[in-house]
Amino acid sequence: MYKVLIYGAGSIGNHLCFACRQRGWHVEMFDVDAAALDRTRKEIYPTRYGEWDSEILLSESLDSSKHYDLIIVGTPPDSHANLVTDILASYSPRVLLVEKPLCTPNLDGLDAVVKAGNDCDSLVLVGYNHNLTKNTQRAEVILNKGDIGIPKSIHVRWLEHWGGIFNAHPWLDGPADTYLGYFQRGGGACAEHSHAVSLWQHFANVLKVGCVINVTAIMDIHKDGIVEYDQTAQILLTTESGLIGSVIQDVITEPPQKTMRIQGTKGYLEWYANYDDSHDAIIYKLDNEERSIEMFEKTRPDDFRGQMDQIADLLAGKRQLKHINGLLEAAKTMEIISAAHVSHKVGHSVDLQNLGWQDVLVH
Ligand SMILES: NC(=O)c1ccc[n+]([C@@H]2O[C@H](COP(=O)([O-])OP(=O)(O)OC[C@H]3O[C@@H](n4cnc5c(N)ncnc54)[C@H](O)[C@@H]3O)[C@@H](O)[C@H]2O)c1
Repeated sequence: MYKVLIYGAGSIGNHLCFACRQRGWHVEMFDVDAAALDRTRKEIYPTRYGEWDSEILLSESLDSSKHYDLIIVGTPPDSHANLVTDILASYSPRVLLVEKPLCTPNLDGLDAVVKAGNDCDSLVLVGYNHNLTKNTQRAEVILNKGDIGIPKSIHVRWLEHWGGIFNAHPWLDGPADTYLGYFQRGGGACAEHSHAVSLWQHFANVLKVGCVINVTAIMDIHKDGIVEYDQTAQILLTTESGLIGSVIQDVITEPPQKTMRIQGTKGYLEWYANYDDSHDAIIYKLDNEERSIEMFEKTRPDDFRGQMDQIADLLAGKRQLKHINGLLEAAKTMEIISAAHVSHKVGHSVDLQNLGWQDVLVH
């Protein structure tokens, strides 16, 4: 039975703890805040999953002499880079899963994280779980057949009022209470909903249209003397092959819409998260075929199932080379997010190949 250490007993820490316990893995949760551990035991876990699971070990301190097969970082974004480098220096988990976004938009610590990830024996993954859900996997199979023709565009929309996030955090009063209200700390639409940028890149890989080389963005920044965050981020992306597409992420749309549309010369494919209350979906029409719709029944825990299946396979040695959500892809996601903030600030496109473009956010 695998041994798991989770940093952060907050919302995602509980989701991933439950996912590990469903597989019978030993879980230890560590949090710097004793109140968070208490809340996990008395409120979050029993409310979400029916009852507290007394096999879970709640820890206020760490012991680096222990071995863990899997370490999960479920803490706020501005702690991720330092935690990843510290963990890789102190432990040798077989897999380290760090939650999205990998770092803050000024890219502080990103080079050190990538270096540490390359130099160690652990496999570092980043928590873009929607790249591994059933509708994503099925969309890949369909697109890999090539019947969509030549890819012409990819558009992703991740429009979700963050009321849902605050419902999952009843101990918070609003964005000012947490990193969410501060884009420099990894909050705001662009970083919090970075699933969208990551999904865009994921399908750009599937369609083999090359990686993103140019970013143009306009944001609606909400600033009131306390908080400062992008409530809407509209981003245009250009790839090496010249494909142009878009990502829009916001924290204001109600009810939420999480969709992707890929247009090819011979057909199209649409992807939906939460198509209705209990399904993800894909809709597609390919060369000379009827329009098809496929629904994938799901609950909130199912959002993490594909990601956990991948980790279980990796731990069992069943899958080594081809994995999804690796460190380099997530580092690229952060470069795109950073470039989007820079583009909004300077008022023109950012060419990712020109060194130094991110300095605007650092100084
Ligand atoms: N993949 C997803 O669908 C998903 C869903 C929710 C959150 N997230 C991501 O997970 C991260 C955490 O979000 P959350 O909503 O769980 O936040 P949260 O505020 O609910 O929980 C974070 C916890 O981390 C603890 N913490 C802070 N620094 C720590 C440290 N150095 N060591 C140990 N514990 C520490 C805090 O005390 C807090 O209890 C964010 O990056 C968020 O974007 C991802």
